Amino acid sequence: MAVLKKIRSRLFSTQDTLLRGGKSAAAGASPARDHEGRRGVAVAYTGPPPETHYDIRPLSVAQLDEVWRLDQRCFIDGEAYSRDTFEYLLTSPEVIAYRAMASDGAMVGFIVGLVEPDQTGHVTTIGVAPEHRRRRVAERLMQKIEDGFGRRQISTVRLEVRSVNAGAQQLYKNLGYTVTQRLPRYYSNGGDGLLMLKSLD
Ligand SMILES: CC(C)(COP(=O)(O)OP(=O)(O)OC[C@H]1O[C@@H](n2cnc3c(N)ncnc32)[C@H](O)[C@@H]1OP(=O)(O)O)[C@@H](O)C(=O)NCCC(=O)NCCS
Repeated sequence: MAVLKKIRSRLFSTQDTLLRGGKSAAAGASPARDHEGRRGVAVAYTGPPPETHYDIRPLSVAQLDEVWRLDQRCFIDGEAYSRDTFEYLLTSPEVIAYRAMASDGAMVGFIVGLVEPDQTGHVTTIGVAPEHRRRRVAERLMQKIEDGFGRRQISTVRLEVRSVNAGAQQLYKNLGYTVTQRLPRYYSNGGDGLLMLKSLD
């Protein structure tokens, strides 16, 4: 989502030069046809049970390694934050962060936001494990961080998203964010970003 070097330049390695925009979810149902096109073929479902319950809890440096590993599964193509970046973020007093936990105790989602010096809230990253996507986990994480920003008297939330990340853009639009600016070549691979804003008033 966010290119952290642009936010905290002295703290980050080149790996974290750019705020990120991950790939949109590739969740899709297994085809209910066999290789000859017959319908009704039983397909083994190996994902989490549909009734899986998710708890949203604070994310702290105590979960550093777990969130770092999950981030690498969410942000492929070299866009994942380094462990140092997470350590910096999760020990900063300006950070608000949450994790989503599945019933088995595994972390399946996370969100990190910064209270910026101009008193805007900045969502720097959000990710959900591929097998838990399209279950409203990200929506709940976004609502939770907005509540957290609200408690810090923040009235505007901003985030960056890749111009090609249609899934994430849809998530944010659903929640009331609007695109206010295109950020040419914002990402390390030369891709454009979009700046999205929401007023919490
Ligand atoms: C983007 C991401 C966080 C969404 O997580 P999620 O838990 O699957 O999202 P939700 O289930 O809360 O989605 C809520 C709504 O947002 C929209 N949405 C989310 N992902 C979408 C996708 N891939 N395609 C289209 N719409 C999508 C839909 O309207 C969805 O509602 P629906 O499932 O009823 O259609 C997840 O796909 C992810 O981790 N992607 C990789 C990292 C990334 O891109 N992060 C964002 C960087 S800016």
